[in-house]
Amino acid sequence: MSKRVYIFDTTLRDGEQSPGASLNMQEKLEIARQLENLGVDAIEAGFPIASKGDFEGVRAIARSIRKPIIVALARSVKRDIDRAWEAIREAARPRIHIFIATSDIHMKYKLKMEPEEVLKLAVEMTAYAKSLCPDVEFSTEDGSRTRPEFMYRVLEAVIDKGATVVNIPDTVGYSTPGEFGRLIRGIRENVKNIDKAILSVHCHNDLGLAVANSLSAVENGAQQVECTVNGIGERAGNAALEEIVMALRTRKDLYDFETGIVTEQIYKASTMVSALTGVIIQPNKAIIGANAFAHESGIHQHGILSNRETYEIMTPESIGLKQSQMVLGKHSGRHAFEERLKELGFENLAPDEINEAFERFKDLADKKKYVMDKDIEALVSSEAYQIPEVIELEYFHITSGNTLISTSTVKIVKDQKVIEEAACGDGPVDATFKAIDRAAGVDVTLKDYFLKAITGGKDALGEVIVKIEKNGRMFAGRGISTDILEASAKAYVNAINKMLYDQSENNGNNGSNGNNGNNGNNGNNGSLQ
Ligand code: KIV
Ligand code: ZN
Repeated sequence: MSKRVYIFDTTLRDGEQSPGASLNMQEKLEIARQLENLGVDAIEAGFPIASKGDFEGVRAIARSIRKPIIVALARSVKRDIDRAWEAIREAARPRIHIFIATSDIHMKYKLKMEPEEVLKLAVEMTAYAKSLCPDVEFSTEDGSRTRPEFMYRVLEAVIDKGATVVNIPDTVGYSTPGEFGRLIRGIRENVKNIDKAILSVHCHNDLGLAVANSLSAVENGAQQVECTVNGIGERAGNAALEEIVMALRTRKDLYDFETGIVTEQIYKASTMVSALTGVIIQPNKAIIGANAFAHESGIHQHGILSNRETYEIMTPESIGLKQSQMVLGKHSGRHAFEERLKELGFENLAPDEINEAFERFKDLADKKKYVMDKDIEALVSSEAYQIPEVIELEYFHITSGNTLISTSTVKIVKDQKVIEEAACGDGPVDATFKAIDRAAGVDVTLKDYFLKAITGGKDALGEVIVKIEKNGRMFAGRGISTDILEASAKAYVNAINKMLYDQSENNGNNGSNGNNGNNGNNGNNGSLQ
């Protein structure tokens, strides 16, 4: 029997710390539902002390997602632990995750504490968390740079106090596979009571080694891996869930381990996380990049046609990626469209959502000869994850050219009022964004603009992702259309709507992007990775 490796997903906590990846509550819930479909064992839903928004997001997930363990993060501080418990106490399977730094450099310069004080606090706070929740995870922050002997003492002590999981982070992504594997083996061999807890690892990707380090840890006795969808996370990100899972599955001959992941749900999870966070997937990204299964060279194509296994070590279908097909055209009926939606994994749409999607499909089919699977996915997902719209774009009109100043007129509806405004700008997109700002009465900073074609050909759908900033918080908006100026305007309006929604929902938010971890800090262990 293969040994089980538990997949602990931290997309909604460490992943949300990606620059500009902040999510609203509906988006967090949407992702959590997909993580449940994906079959993760645990969802780290957030860091409740960080902000009101984070707290509410964790609580909503704890209330509605019943299969996986729902985890809330806390520093080794009573106030944090109380808040974490408050957020997850209604979960079917709650877990409090506490951490404190144990490396010499962090203890001396960040915590300004002696090792013995850190050990004492770790023990006390584990006992406190355990008095509230039966499942307690303890992390030694900056674990890979911690003196092993000190780490063994801390781990043994917290397991004695009831920690059910002990997690070893490579917080700064500094370790290498051989070294990290030896650290995990050392823990297995030197911590007397290690068999009373699950041994977990949490690797960052600063040297591009997060997945390799996690796999090496598994070979050396780690039973839980912490990771994020698409590898998103602060700086260079975290270990990518899809890479770990597919490596274990594809090289079963080397790794006799299994996970509970339904790999066919990977592609959907990946596109959802990218669409909602606005963190774009590089085309050559392993497993889920646009080129991951594209075979360009003639030699490869010839080999693939004779036998797929010549150049394909896993199938696109195994991650839920259907081969792009010419599906439907303007004469296709509603029934065929609905069937295709189901095959693409959108089986839970309500009848009015299907009607709306069908209308959009018909519009698209008028403009585009062949509507492909990817077009349909884009059409449906761009609407499926919408929050209530405070402003709606009625129309825009642009004058532009290389010898004249671009001007744009837009008409929007806001609070049932029709507002029309015009502006000039450096090019048609800039002019349109300025006109929308004026009409909506907002003042935001455009931080990022990204355009890609969803399928090939002159009539391809264009997808635009914009990121705007307001008071230190970032909001990603997405728009699609066969006209890239319309896609740009829609994306910008979507981002503004998310910002307005956030303002209305989060009046008590600390405005810190919800995850800086310094709120209410007593100075003993500020930042987190
Ligand atoms: O990277 C890290 O050390 C963390 C801990 C809070 C687990 O994210
Ligand atoms: Zn981390």
